[in-house]
Amino acid sequence: MPSLVTFSPRPAMCLLKGSAGALLLGGAFLAAPQVLAEEIAIACGAGDAADYCPIAARQWAERTGHSVKVVSTPNDTTEKLSLYQQLLGSGSSDIDVLMVDIVWPGMLDNHLADLGEYLPADATHGFFPALIDNNTVDGRLLAMPWYTDAGLLYYRKDLLEKYGHEVPETWQELTATAEAIQAAEREAGNDDFWGFSFQGRAYEGLTCNALEWVASHGGGTLVDGEGKVTIDNPRAAAALDLAASWIGTISPEGALNHTEEETRGIFQSGNALFLRNWPYVWSLANGEGSAVAGKIGIAPLPHGPEGEPRATLGGWNFAVSRHSEHPALAADLVAFITSREQQKAHAIRMGMNPTIEALYQDAEVLASNPAMGELYETLRNGVPRPASVTGDAYSRVSNAFFNRTHQVLSGELDGATAVHQLDRELKRLGRRGW
Ligand code: GLC
Repeated sequence: MPSLVTFSPRPAMCLLKGSAGALLLGGAFLAAPQVLAEEIAIACGAGDAADYCPIAARQWAERTGHSVKVVSTPNDTTEKLSLYQQLLGSGSSDIDVLMVDIVWPGMLDNHLADLGEYLPADATHGFFPALIDNNTVDGRLLAMPWYTDAGLLYYRKDLLEKYGHEVPETWQELTATAEAIQAAEREAGNDDFWGFSFQGRAYEGLTCNALEWVASHGGGTLVDGEGKVTIDNPRAAAALDLAASWIGTISPEGALNHTEEETRGIFQSGNALFLRNWPYVWSLANGEGSAVAGKIGIAPLPHGPEGEPRATLGGWNFAVSRHSEHPALAADLVAFITSREQQKAHAIRMGMNPTIEALYQDAEVLASNPAMGELYETLRNGVPRPASVTGDAYSRVSNAFFNRTHQVLSGELDGATAVHQLDRELKRLGRRGW
């Protein structure tokens, strides 16, 4: 069950009685003055250490005199999507503002308000144009970009040095180095130590990992930019087979049920040499209470014998539900959270990558996280999932991909059979055009 927390800056009655002037003195972010204080419900992240959404939402409440009800949602992206689909599908006005994944605008379009109707014409100015395009469906601006991310390789600098290994450039090198150091660390008494931790649960995160394995082996992106299904090829099959060989050798069996947070836990407690994860891990793994603070490095993900490093593009946005009873106010909250000021604070406090281009030249932002500047290139070269091209079929495409991949990881299918079956499934899904 999602948890609800209501935050009002001052007692609501006092606001209801207050004059419009008093509210404006409160510093309303809203373009048009509001007279009555309203409550805006916002679906944030999981409410954990990495969730900045409630903090920003409460600041908006403080500045405007409105109140916010923060709804925590599951960490697993696929579960979060199901929750939203239930809520939005029932036409419920319970949630006004939603944090949405970069791959959702095309799927949720019927349920999201056109922010273009509520925000000033220059509201998207300065944002990465590719993200604004991603969030614009049939000319309707369905979400404002909040932060962007891409898959990265985290490694234990101290252990690579100790055992005389380089940061791996290929998946094959990663496998060999992970085997060697895992064996040595276990020999030294750390029985829980693993070579490589990644997200192998059957959910959206596995789609992200598997796309990286396949694309970095030169095996394509599942569905190409024209909507053609490309997965049935030997490089894609080899990439999946290699990943399956990690289970129970350099990666725990539990990887089959791991999402981002479980893998961060393993790495952060000192029990993995390599970790595939998103940029949010950097500041947490270097923070208080982390067993690996100061001992880690980041690098581009490895590639296959015939490919280049490819990082899946991720990121989160804020949208307004079409069923909201306060769409203008909800859009104002969206504009506030995604504003330059808030993105800067998010970057500095939590190391999250802004979606406003100029912040990559901001000295304080760059100083806050050494990875920020380096990441800019990785983000620019990131591989998008085929969400725009497959539109509202994307969740079925992704489900097919992560389910087949999961079967390969669990030893139920080999890579070649899996990509062949996937090819048939995806072609069936897209047979009338996406
Ligand atoms: C991260 C990404 C998001 C992706 C998810 C998968 O949160 O930002 O785009 O879908 O991971 O688990």
